Amino acid sequence: MNNTQIENCRKFYALAQSKLAGDTSGHSLDHILRVVNNAVLIARSEAPCDLYLIVAAALLHDVIDDKLTADPQKEHRFLEERLAEIDPSIQASVFAIIDHLSFSKNLSEKQVLSQEGQIVQDADRLDAIGAIGIARTFYYGGHVGNPMYDPELPPRTQMDAAAYRSERSTVINHFYEKLLLLESKMNTETGRRLARKRTAFMEQYLQEFFDEWNGQA
Ligand code: ADP
Ligand code: NI
Repeated sequence: MNNTQIENCRKFYALAQSKLAGDTSGHSLDHILRVVNNAVLIARSEAPCDLYLIVAAALLHDVIDDKLTADPQKEHRFLEERLAEIDPSIQASVFAIIDHLSFSKNLSEKQVLSQEGQIVQDADRLDAIGAIGIARTFYYGGHVGNPMYDPELPPRTQMDAAAYRSERSTVINHFYEKLLLLESKMNTETGRRLARKRTAFMEQYLQEFFDEWNGQA
C-alpha cells in the first residue's frame, strides 16, 4: 500500500468507528479489526491480490448491514458519498464486495465475489465461528431477545433471507442454521484450514452444552 492508500484506510477506519463503535450486538470495532486481521492473514497466503481493496472492504463491510442500521439505503447513499470524496477509484469495487458478502444475502441467491471479496468473506466468516463466534452468537441472541435454547424448537433447514432474519429462533439453533455450515462454504484454502479447527471446537462445545443441559455432565 502506498501512503495515500494508508491515509485513506485511516479515514475508512474513522468512518467505521463513527457508525459501529456503539454497537452492542457483536459487530463493534473489535469485530471489524479482527476481520481486517483475518483478511490480511489469508491474503498473505493467496495469489497476489489488492491488499488496499481488502482492507478497505473489511473496514467498511458492516457499515451498511441491514440488521445493524434502521435505514440501510440511507447508509448506502452516505457511504457512496464518502467513498466518492475519499477515493472514487475504489468505490465500485468496495460496493461489489460489501453488497454481496453476507450470509443472509447468499441464502436467497448465490452472490458472485472478486478474489478480494472472497477473502473478506472468509475473514468475516471466521469471526462468526470458534471461541469468538460462540461468544458473539450468545451476545447477539441476548441483544435481540432470543432464548438460549429450546429443545421444542428444531433448527430450520430451509429458509430464505427474510425468514432467516424475521422468524424466532434460538442461539443454539443458530449453530445448526449457519455456524456449522460455514466451513464447507469457505472460499480460500487458508480460510478452510482455520475454519476446520474452529468448527471442531464448536462441535465439542455443543456436546458439553447438551450434556450439561441434560444433567449428564
Ligand atoms: P451476515 O451478517 O453475514 O448476514 P448474520 O446475520 O448471521 O450474518 O450475522 C452475523 C453474526 O451475528 C453471526 O455470526 C452471529 O454471531 C450473530 N447472529 C446473527 N443471527 C443470529 C441469531 N439468530 N442468533 C444468534 N446469533 C446470531
Ligand atoms: Ni461482519
